[in-house]
Amino acid sequence: MNVKGRNFLTLKDFTPEEIIGFLDLAAELKEKKKRGVPVDTLRGKNIALIFEKTSTRTRCSFEVAAHDLGMGTTYLDPAGSQIGKKESIPDTARVLGRMFDGIEYRGYGQEIVEELAKYAGVPVWNGLTNEYHPTQILADMLTIREHFGHLKDIRLVYMGDARYNMGNSLMIGCAKLGMHFVACAPEAYFPNQELVAQCESYAEESGGTITLTENVVAGTRGADVIYTDVWVSMGEPDQVWEQRIHDLSPYKVTAKVMENAGPQAIFLHCLPAFHDLKTKIGKEIQEKYGIEDMEVTDEVFESPQSKVFDEAENRMHPFNGVWGATVGAVCARIDVNPTILRAGRSKSEAGAFHVLQKGEPMEENTVLCGANAYEKKYYFNPDFGSLPQTIQDELHIMCVLFTEEIGGIFTVEFTPEGDLEFRTEALEADAMYDDIGGPLRIKELRREKEELFRSLELFYKVFFLGEDVEA
Ligand code: CP
Ligand code: NVA
Repeated sequence: MNVKGRNFLTLKDFTPEEIIGFLDLAAELKEKKKRGVPVDTLRGKNIALIFEKTSTRTRCSFEVAAHDLGMGTTYLDPAGSQIGKKESIPDTARVLGRMFDGIEYRGYGQEIVEELAKYAGVPVWNGLTNEYHPTQILADMLTIREHFGHLKDIRLVYMGDARYNMGNSLMIGCAKLGMHFVACAPEAYFPNQELVAQCESYAEESGGTITLTENVVAGTRGADVIYTDVWVSMGEPDQVWEQRIHDLSPYKVTAKVMENAGPQAIFLHCLPAFHDLKTKIGKEIQEKYGIEDMEVTDEVFESPQSKVFDEAENRMHPFNGVWGATVGAVCARIDVNPTILRAGRSKSEAGAFHVLQKGEPMEENTVLCGANAYEKKYYFNPDFGSLPQTIQDELHIMCVLFTEEIGGIFTVEFTPEGDLEFRTEALEADAMYDDIGGPLRIKELRREKEELFRSLELFYKVFFLGEDVEA
C-alpha cells in the first residue's frame, strides 16, 4: 500500500485494499502498543488538530496516537483561532501547511475540509464533517473484524438518521468491503440517492449489498451489527428535536430489536449516546418531552452485546495506521521478519531508528541506518555506535552503496536461517527507479557485492542468532 502524501477526507477515495491496509496497520500497531513495543517512528513530525465542533474521542485518540508515534500536536479549539472569522480557509491552510506535516479538521461542510486539503500542501484528515466521519469507520471495521474475525458478508443495520455523517460513511465502508448495509429509517432519513447509487456500484464490485427499509422487524432480522447514532447531530438547531423524536422513536435500539437480530448480534454506537439521564441534554429532553432515553435504551447500551467501549478504544489505533501511511515512516510495511537494514530517501522513509541488542527479539521495522540518496546524507541510529566497528563500517558502506547506486526504498532482510535477501518491491513501484538503472542493476550489485552480503550474514548469525561462526 502506498498512500503517502494523500488526504484522508472520505473512504470513497480509497480502494478496498487500501482500507484493509489501514486496518491491518492499525491492528499491528495496536498489538505493538499492548506489548509495549515503541512505535515512535514519526519523531520530529508535527500535526495541527482543528476542531470547529467539540469532541472527546476524536481529539483524545488523535493526540494519544500522535504522541505514540512521536509526533507533536497543536490543538485549535472551536473558538481559539482565527479560522473562518478573520482568516479564510485557503489562507489558514497555507499557513498551517508551512508549519505542520499534516492537519486534522473537524467541522461543518465537507467542502471546507476539501478546500483545506486543496491549499495545505500536506495531508489533511477528516475528523468529522456533516457528510462523513471516515476515521470512525476504520474504528468500527476494526472492532467488527476483531469480533467476527472477518468483514465480508457481515450484515450491518444502521438505525436512525441515515442521511448524515455516520449513515453515509458506514454505507460507503460496508459497500467497499463486501458487507451488507441496511439503512433502517423513515424514508425521509434515507441517505441521498446519488450516494446510494455510488455505493451500489462499490457493492457490485465487492459482493456487498445496500438495502433501504422502513421496516424494523424485516430490516434488523439476522443482523450481525446493529448500529445507531444520536438523532440530532452537532451543529443542528435545537428546533429539530421534537420532529426527530417523533420520527425516529420507532427506530430506537431496544432489547426487542436486539432479540429480533439474534444472539450473534453486537451493538455499536460511535458515541456519545443518549441512553440515560446522566447528561445535561438528556435531562432537558426528559423535562421537555418526557422520555428517558433516545436512540438506544440503557438496557441495550449496558448489555453484553454492546461493544461500544471496544469501539471507542479502537478510535485510537487506526490513526496510527492512517498517519503511518500518509505521513511516512511506517508506510512501507516490512512483511518479512527480520529486517536490519532499510534505506530510504529520507530519515522518515528509512523508518524507526532502533538498534537491537544481542539476543533482543527482532521487530519488523527495526532499522540500523537510513540514507538520503539525493542529498547524499546518511542517517544512523544513535545506538549505531555500540555495534562492533567492522559491522558499522560494513553497514555504512552498504548504505552508501545502495542508496547512491539505486536510490529509493529497499529492504535487506535476513531469512530465519540468517541468509540475506534483497527486496526491492518499493523501488519497483517507483517510476523513478526505471530512470536510474532498473532491476538489472540490482542483480548486478548483488553479484558484485557478494562479499559484503556474506559478511553481513555473518554479523547477523553471530549477533542475532547467537551462533558461533568463524569469520
Ligand atoms: N465518535 C466521535 O467522533 O466522538 P467525539 O465526538 O467525542 O470525537
Ligand atoms: N452524527 C454525530 C456523530 C458524532 C460522532 C454528529 O455529527 O454529531
